[in-house]
Amino acid sequence: MNRLDYSCRATEPRGTAYLIEHSHGLATPFLLIDPARLRANVRRMRAAFPGGEIFYATKANAHPRVLQTLAAEGCGFEISSEGELEAIGRLGRQIPFLSSNPIKAPGFIQRAAQAGVIAFAADSVEELVKIAREAPGAAVYVRLLVDNSGSEWPLTRKYGVAPSEAVELLIRAADLGLVPRGTTFHVGSQCRQASSWDAALAVTADVWNEAARSGLHLTFLSIGGGFPVRHTREIPPLEEIGAVVQRAIAERFPPDALLTLEPGRALVGDAALLGASVIGCARRGDERWVYLDVGIFNGLMEAIGGFTYEITTLVSGPSSATVLAGPSCDSVDVIAEGVLLPDLTVGDRVYFLNAGAYTLSYASSFNGWPPPSVAFLDELA
Ligand SMILES: Cc1ncc(COP(=O)(O)O)c(C=O)c1O
Repeated sequence: MNRLDYSCRATEPRGTAYLIEHSHGLATPFLLIDPARLRANVRRMRAAFPGGEIFYATKANAHPRVLQTLAAEGCGFEISSEGELEAIGRLGRQIPFLSSNPIKAPGFIQRAAQAGVIAFAADSVEELVKIAREAPGAAVYVRLLVDNSGSEWPLTRKYGVAPSEAVELLIRAADLGLVPRGTTFHVGSQCRQASSWDAALAVTADVWNEAARSGLHLTFLSIGGGFPVRHTREIPPLEEIGAVVQRAIAERFPPDALLTLEPGRALVGDAALLGASVIGCARRGDERWVYLDVGIFNGLMEAIGGFTYEITTLVSGPSSATVLAGPSCDSVDVIAEGVLLPDLTVGDRVYFLNAGAYTLSYASSFNGWPPPSVAFLDELA
């Protein structure tokens, strides 16, 4: 469990114990978000990546107040659908935004261009042709395939062009009347290896050098997302990743390269506590099973990919290995196995720490179990 923290001022981010203590009046499942932590995360990221422009990956948590808070901190947004375009449109202010998903729906491309998108990502000739048709003259950047082995939620295979084919694609973009601006990559979400960014930037620098030899002047240097949040395993501090990136840029890129970041998880992950209640317990052979009112389908989707959250409860007593499952009838709805928990009974509360990213945004109401309700720390009575 995180260190106890009851001592900070209202405008400062609060610790887990404070969130738990102030969540008692909330019905489960809930996601209790600390806006001060969101603000602190943006500031920390800016300090770790001086000169970098932040475009928050909206998919990580698109709650209107989360978006509002990040916009007020000066973040731009990374979006990839009409739904996300509408979400940032509702913020009622001019928001800088770009779209890094290499495959986009034609209607979205058209509407994003009308709304003033900065640039679109692409990783295939087919996508460039589509962008040229729906948004003639748009600026584009190419998504490179890079090593994702340092991440817990890899994003390869589905997207990314081999670096050896990237310049050809940028030239093709120019031939289609688009403006080839630069490159992007994603080292994979929850990347726990700072060297992954260094390796990806080395690959990127080769592409930029080849592009320069072909007469293209690139300036847009996106290093994607992937910045990790503390769960059950060690992670490099953001500052270490920032130092690696800064060194790589200083050594390998022209001075007019514009560093762009697309953090999702790192801005929202540790800003929320997910609270659940035990709805049932059972012994199955040697195993002790505990069933909660939240599971894979209504909030903890990432557990299906082996994602392990730090889990705690206020119930005391000796702990034993527990299989923690969600409420739906589906047998894939298992959150974690072998979790050390005390003897729980129906009605006890269980808390998932640092659960602000990819929980709400993935949640469905499968089997009639609704997504967590959302509360903000500074709005609690
Ligand atoms: C294009 C793009 N950028 C940024 C992100 C955010 O990644 P993360 O939440 O790991 O920072 C994602 C996540 O899927 C993505 O697809």
